[in-house]
Amino acid sequence: MTPYQRWTLRTDATSYTVRLSADGPWAELDAWGPHGVETGPSALDWSHRTHFFTPADAAPAEYLPYGLRPFTGADLVASRPGEERGVWWEFAGAEEDEGALRLAFTDEVLGLRTVLCYRTVPGTDVILRWTEFTSSRELRLERLDSAAVTVPVTGPARLTYLTGQWSQEFQHTRLDLSRGTFSMGSTQGAPGHAYAPWLAVQDGENGPAYGVALEWPGNWHLTAQAEPGGFVRVRAGRVPHEGAVYLTPGETLTTPRLACAFSAEGLDGLSRVWHRYERHLSGERLRRPRKVLYNSWEATAFDVDAAGQLELAKTAADIGAELFVVDDGWFTGRADDTGGLGDWYPDPAAFPDGFGRFVDDVRALGLDFGLWIEPEAVSPGSELYAEHPDWVYRIEDRPARLVRNQLLLDLGRTDVQDFVIGTLDRLLTEYDISYLKWDMNRPPTERSRPGAGPADRLDLDAQHVAGYLHVLDHLRSAHPHVTVEGCAGGGARVDHATLARTDVLWPSDNTAPLDRLAIQYGFLHAHAPHVMSSWVTDAPGVFDPRSRSLAFRFVNAMCGVLGIGADLRHWDADQRAEAARWIARYKDVRDVVHLGEARLLGSPRDVTCGVQYDGADGRTVVAALSTGPLDGAPLVPGRPARLRLRGLDAAATYRDADSGAAYSGAHLLHYGLPFAWSAAHDAELVVLTRE
Ligand code: DGJ
Repeated sequence: MTPYQRWTLRTDATSYTVRLSADGPWAELDAWGPHGVETGPSALDWSHRTHFFTPADAAPAEYLPYGLRPFTGADLVASRPGEERGVWWEFAGAEEDEGALRLAFTDEVLGLRTVLCYRTVPGTDVILRWTEFTSSRELRLERLDSAAVTVPVTGPARLTYLTGQWSQEFQHTRLDLSRGTFSMGSTQGAPGHAYAPWLAVQDGENGPAYGVALEWPGNWHLTAQAEPGGFVRVRAGRVPHEGAVYLTPGETLTTPRLACAFSAEGLDGLSRVWHRYERHLSGERLRRPRKVLYNSWEATAFDVDAAGQLELAKTAADIGAELFVVDDGWFTGRADDTGGLGDWYPDPAAFPDGFGRFVDDVRALGLDFGLWIEPEAVSPGSELYAEHPDWVYRIEDRPARLVRNQLLLDLGRTDVQDFVIGTLDRLLTEYDISYLKWDMNRPPTERSRPGAGPADRLDLDAQHVAGYLHVLDHLRSAHPHVTVEGCAGGGARVDHATLARTDVLWPSDNTAPLDRLAIQYGFLHAHAPHVMSSWVTDAPGVFDPRSRSLAFRFVNAMCGVLGIGADLRHWDADQRAEAARWIARYKDVRDVVHLGEARLLGSPRDVTCGVQYDGADGRTVVAALSTGPLDGAPLVPGRPARLRLRGLDAAATYRDADSGAAYSGAHLLHYGLPFAWSAAHDAELVVLTRE
C-alpha cells in the first residue's frame, strides 16, 4: 500500500477519484468532475498545516469517525455501551470491481469493521455511496451517516435546496454559505414538507453543480459545513428516533444510500442528471404510458357515493380521461376525517349495488379504476383500533395524541405488515383496481412499542421504513399491473426509496395555478417529469391568488403526469371541449414529456417561464407559461415575450407543427420562441419538429 493509493470510479461523463490520505488512516476525495479531472494535482489538496485542530479535521475526508476527527464534524460516533465515544481505525483493504469500490477500516479495540461502499449507476452520472458496519462486540452508534462529499470553493458556496410546508412544498431556495454550518432534515418519520432530502452545491452561482440526495423515507439530516481550507463538506444520513442504534455482534448494519451527482452544466445540467437517474429507478415501468387520471377528491371530498362518482366518471371519460380514482371517503365510517381509517371496507350506504358493481360501471365507461388508501393510519373509533389497540405507536400511561384525528400504526411490526398486505391483497383481488394512491397524513409523534423490551434498543424509525418498503415491494411483485401513486398529505414522502417502488408521486395538495407552477419548478430540479403527478383543478391560489386560464392550468399540469381534479359537473360545454382538446394534445406528446430530456426555462419569478422537452423522435415540446405581468404584450412599442431554448442544433430548422412557422436552431437559442401574451392568453404548448 502506498500512501497515495487512488481509485477512480467512472460514470457516463464524470469521474470520482478517492485516495488514501497521506495524513492518516482515512480515505479522502482526490477529484470529482468531468472525465479526466483526476489528472493533475488534486484541487482538494491543502497545505497540511493545522493549528488548534488535527489533519483529519482539515482533510476532504470521505468518511471519518469521532475519535479520529474530533472537531469539524464526524460521520460516525460510536462507543461500547456506557463507555467513552470514539473510533480509531486502520485501513484494512480495498475491493474494486467494475463500477464498484469498497474500502474497509477496522478498529481492533471496538471490534468494529466499517466499509465505505461506492457504486456507479449505469447510464447516469450518479454514484451511490453508503456505509456498512459489522462488529464483534455490541456497539452504540449515535451517528451513522451514509457518506460525506467535499466540494472545493473559491468563495461562498451556493447552496440550492427545496423547502416548504404543507401546501407549499419544493420551494426553490438558495443560500450563499461562506462559513458555518447549514443543516436541514426531518424527525417526522418521513422526508417531510419542510425540506427535501436533496441539496446542490456550486462554487458560486454559475459553477458546475454537485448534488446529493438521500434514499431514506424516515428521519434524516443533511448538513453542509463551510470549512476553513476552502471546502464545503456535505454529510447526510438517517437520524435514529431513539438517539442511537445498537449494533449487535455479528450483524451488519447498512446505512441508506446517498446518491451523488455531478454536472459541468450547473444546476440545469444537474436536474437532467437526476431525471435520468429517476428514469433508471423506474426501470421497465418507465415505458408504461402514464394514463390521464381523474381524481374526485377536490370535487366531492368525503361526500362519496356511487351516483355522484359515476356522474363525474362519465364526464371525465367524455373529455378523454383514461383512469378514474376515488380518493378518501369510500369506506365505512368516513363521513369526515374523524373516522373510518383502518376499516377498509366500501361503505354499503354509498354503494348500494355493491362496490364491485360500481367499479364495473366505471370500467364500462372505458376507464381504469383507482382507489385511495392510507394503510398506516387508524381512527380511534375504528373496529381495527378496538381489536388491536397495541398496533399503534403509544407510550404506556401517556395520552395518545391525535394528528388529523388519527393514530399511526406501527408498521415495523410484522403482524401490522401482514394486516396491511392482507388488506391490499383483498381489495386488489376483489375489485378490478389498476391504480392505488397510498397516502399518509400523520407523522409519528410519540413512538414506542410497549412490551417489546428496552425502548432505546428498538430503532423504530428504521423498522417503520423497512415495513413500508416491504409492503410497497409486495405490491410490485404480487400486483405488478397496479400503478402506485405515492402521497403523504401532499409531498411529504418524496425520496428515492419511495420513488423506486411507486410510479408517480403527488408533490403537493396545492393545485392552484401559480402556486403549483412554483412547486413544480422546485420539484423538477430534483425529480423527473414522469413521476410528477399534476392536476387541473378549479382551486384558487392559496399563496398566489391571481387566476389563470384553463389553458394555463392544462399546460402547467402537462409538464408532468396530467390529471384532472376539477368538479367537472360545473364545467360548461366550451370548457369541456377545450379540456378534451388539451387532453388529446397531451396524449400526443406525453412520451416526449416523460421520456425526453427536460430543461427548465426561466423561473416563476420571470414574466415567461416554461419547460423544454427534447424527445428521441426529433420533437421538442415547449410548455410556455405567462406568470401575469404583460411586459411582452404588443402595446406600442411592445414586443412579444421570448423564451430562449437550449441544447438545440443551431444549424437545424425547427418547425412549429401548429402555426407552420420555421425557426433556425440559432434563432431559438439566441432570441427564443416568441409569445404574444394577453390577459386571456397566458399559456402555450408548442411542438417543434426538427426538419
Ligand atoms: C391528503 C392528500 O394529499 C390529498 O390528495 C387527499 O388524498 C387527502 N389526503 C384525502 O384525505
